[in-house]
Amino acid sequence: MSKLTILRYPHPNLHQVAKPVEVVDDRVRQIVADMFETMYDANGVGLAATQVDIHERIIVMDVSEERDQPIVLINPVVVWSSSEHVVNEEGCLSVPGIYDAVDRAERVRVKAMDEHGNSREVEGEGLLSRCIQHEMDHLQGKVFVEYLSALKRNRIKTKLVKAERDAAKA
Ligand code: NI
Repeated sequence: MSKLTILRYPHPNLHQVAKPVEVVDDRVRQIVADMFETMYDANGVGLAATQVDIHERIIVMDVSEERDQPIVLINPVVVWSSSEHVVNEEGCLSVPGIYDAVDRAERVRVKAMDEHGNSREVEGEGLLSRCIQHEMDHLQGKVFVEYLSALKRNRIKTKLVKAERDAAKA
């Protein structure tokens, strides 16, 4: 396994649209393993392949306290979402240190394949629901800050570009 580099907003590749995985083979399983290592190392609850510059429809998640309930979603499709919505704070490994309120469906059900190519449905509420929707946005090239006002988004952009520049100098 190896840790992958997480792209940081406003990296342009975060806006690429991911392509469906054609065959779930050892190559894909390796990507999944590397993504889990990267996500756990960064203390994240979810990671989309787009964030590690791989533009295929692959998501890994673990919203458990014990960090022992990995979920893999390959080629996920939303089959149902609740009409009830919840506004809650959200963050993203590609937007470090930034948290803001985003409106999401309270519950969602997705159909996807696991790392063995088996199709199944996953239904989530609360953090799991929010995480599924957030990661699926990544596969469409959308970062959560795009739900915020242009003013906030520009502030975030400036802050992150400056942080990156300072880190490069250090
Ligand atoms: Ni994210």
